[in-house]
Amino acid sequence: SAMSVEGSKKEAACIAVENNVKGGVIGIGSGSTIVYAVEKLAEIVAEQNLDIVCIPTSFQARQLIIKHGLPLGDLETHPVLDVCIDGADEVDTDLTLIKGGGGCLLQEKIVASCAKKFVVIADYRKKSNNLGEQWTKGIPIEVIPLSYRCVEMKIVSQYGGNIDLRLSGESKAGPVVTDNGNFILDWKFPSTLDWKAVEIFLNMIPGVVENGLFVNMAHVAYFGMKDGSVMTKE
Ligand code: A5P
Repeated sequence: SAMSVEGSKKEAACIAVENNVKGGVIGIGSGSTIVYAVEKLAEIVAEQNLDIVCIPTSFQARQLIIKHGLPLGDLETHPVLDVCIDGADEVDTDLTLIKGGGGCLLQEKIVASCAKKFVVIADYRKKSNNLGEQWTKGIPIEVIPLSYRCVEMKIVSQYGGNIDLRLSGESKAGPVVTDNGNFILDWKFPSTLDWKAVEIFLNMIPGVVENGLFVNMAHVAYFGMKDGSVMTKE
């Protein structure tokens, strides 16, 4: 039977939690898919009386942890995580990710980098052969506000493509401001590139705080498929 997108997110999230959470320090990602993982986590913590601490990757994640009555921690007291679970906007065949569609890439990357295992959960729309085929809004780049124009120019003169400053939309005039007080640029890159080189190039530009390319970070991805199954990719 055909699975809805929401149904496939939930399947992936549940399997990922069942297979990867045995207690300990757990990183909690951001977005819509992680909501299903936290619901499942709350369930198994209650059932199995698991001893866990949750480290949020955003304001949204923090609220989700609190809402489910799960123990809340931070990187200062828990600088090493057993596992971090998060969604992604796109996942290629090397498990290179684009993240930051929801604007939370900086804290997400910090928390994921501290985890012994980084687990990605996604619906079938995120599974891709080449970055940009599925997620067409570009690579999110978090920048210090005063730098956004010069960062844009440096990226385009090196690699081409085009860049938009992310705007708030109807709720507020002007740019999106991240949990860390920064702006987000969305870079529509022109072609498939050497993503590790791009990640390093971007982070060397003064004013760039972090970018949404996650290269060699994910250990495993769980994709909820259209037919209701979950595909595991390591
Ligand atoms: C947040 O900034 C993103 O990196 C999310 O992890 C990503 O957008 C996944 O969100 P969904 O689960 O809502 O697709």
